Amino acid sequence: MSDRLYIFDTTLRDGEQVPGCQLNTVEKIEVAKALELLGVDVLEAGFPISSPGDFQSVMEISKAVKNPIICALTRAVEKDIEVAADSLKYAKRKRIHTGIGTSEYHIRYKFNSNQDDILQRAIACVKYARRFVEDVEFYAEDAGRTENEYLARVIEAVIAAGATVVNIPDTTGYCLPEEYGAKIRYLKENVKGIDNAIISTHCHNDLGMATANTVSGVINGARQVEVTINGIGERAGNTSLEEVVMTMKSRKNLNIVTGIQTKNIFKTSRLVSSLMNMPVQPNKAIVGRNAFAHSSGIHQDGVLKHRENYEIIDPLEVGISESSIALTARSGRAALKHRLSLLGYNLNKEQLDEVYKRFLELADKKKDIRDEDLEILIGNTTTRKNNKIKLEHLQVLCGKSTIPMATVTLNINGETFSHTAPGNGPVDASFRAIKQLIHHHFRVEEYLVQAITKGSDDIGKVHIQIENKGNYYYGFSGNTDVVTASVEALIDAINKIV
Ligand code: KIV
Ligand code: ZN
Repeated sequence: MSDRLYIFDTTLRDGEQVPGCQLNTVEKIEVAKALELLGVDVLEAGFPISSPGDFQSVMEISKAVKNPIICALTRAVEKDIEVAADSLKYAKRKRIHTGIGTSEYHIRYKFNSNQDDILQRAIACVKYARRFVEDVEFYAEDAGRTENEYLARVIEAVIAAGATVVNIPDTTGYCLPEEYGAKIRYLKENVKGIDNAIISTHCHNDLGMATANTVSGVINGARQVEVTINGIGERAGNTSLEEVVMTMKSRKNLNIVTGIQTKNIFKTSRLVSSLMNMPVQPNKAIVGRNAFAHSSGIHQDGVLKHRENYEIIDPLEVGISESSIALTARSGRAALKHRLSLLGYNLNKEQLDEVYKRFLELADKKKDIRDEDLEILIGNTTTRKNNKIKLEHLQVLCGKSTIPMATVTLNINGETFSHTAPGNGPVDASFRAIKQLIHHHFRVEEYLVQAITKGSDDIGKVHIQIENKGNYYYGFSGNTDVVTASVEALIDAINKIV
């Protein structure tokens, strides 16, 4: 029997601490939904006391995502814990992640304290968090540099106080794999009650050993790993989700399984990379552009003779399909169907007809259609089908020395309505026209436009969040025309109010 390893994703908390890579709430919801599809068990959504934006994101993610446990980080401070509990109020399953530094460095130079006082504070924060939630994870910050005997005392005490998961972070990325594994084993063998909690790894990559340390932790008894997509995170980053998951999947002798849908790894990697503006290094294990590219003649020949001669993972297992071959306007329905099935979409005839129609429209405007474009076509087609409000026509007038104007025609419950409005740009004019056509008051809270691959003929992706009577609704669209994409995204969000 294999053991189950829980995947705790901290892309949206530790990963997001990278300077310049911060996401807004709309983007975080998009990543959270992708992580849910990927199958993560726990999703650390933020550090709510740190900013109103983080608080709001944890709350919105709690509403938008149902399967994973939603986790919020705190310090060992009562106010932090109260705010975290409040931010989690909509989560179906919730966890508070609280803790304190336990190494001599942290005790002396961060807290100007002593071991006994820190032990008491650790116990107190777990007990306080347990007043709000049943699932409390304790982290012993800088556990990597904490002597094992004291660490064991702290861990034993917090488990007795009610911690359900105990996190052993190598905060500075200092440990060697053997050392980190031995630390986990020491806790397994010396902490009374250790079987009442799950041991979690949390390794940073300062010496390039985050994955090795994490795997060593698992071999020695940890059953939760804290990871980020593409290994992003402060300094040299965190342990990368895809590396650990594929290690477990490829090395069957470890007898460990995860709940990750590995076919979604590649697209989640690209989503995080593009939203965070953080390119993936070409030789990055599992998700780098060259991870499965064989360039030497000997290797190419070997792979063609038998893939496993030079490949330990089938690229399809992580969702890398034949996407280097782009589809074009001349591609038939069968080619489209095949590519969609590689991406995990098995459409019935009616759905395929609809997507194919939109595919041909797009292929007329854009030479090569890639997987990212297809994902958008699928999203646009499936989410719009049953909408009560549909965009029938849009015409805009804009340019230098022109007053931007937009005429929007909507089909609302089968009837057609049109309005023309001016604005400070074509998007603003279109949104004003829409406001006149629908009976719901709304305010645009967030609006984001992005190109998804490259080139001026690229698809523009639009994410939008609107507010209506204190509730927030999220809309999305992609189109080669960014004004149309913006209007479609707004209508997508309005349909959710309806
Ligand atoms: O690296 C670390 O120690 C952390 C903790 C706050 C869990 O990120
Ligand atoms: Zn960390």
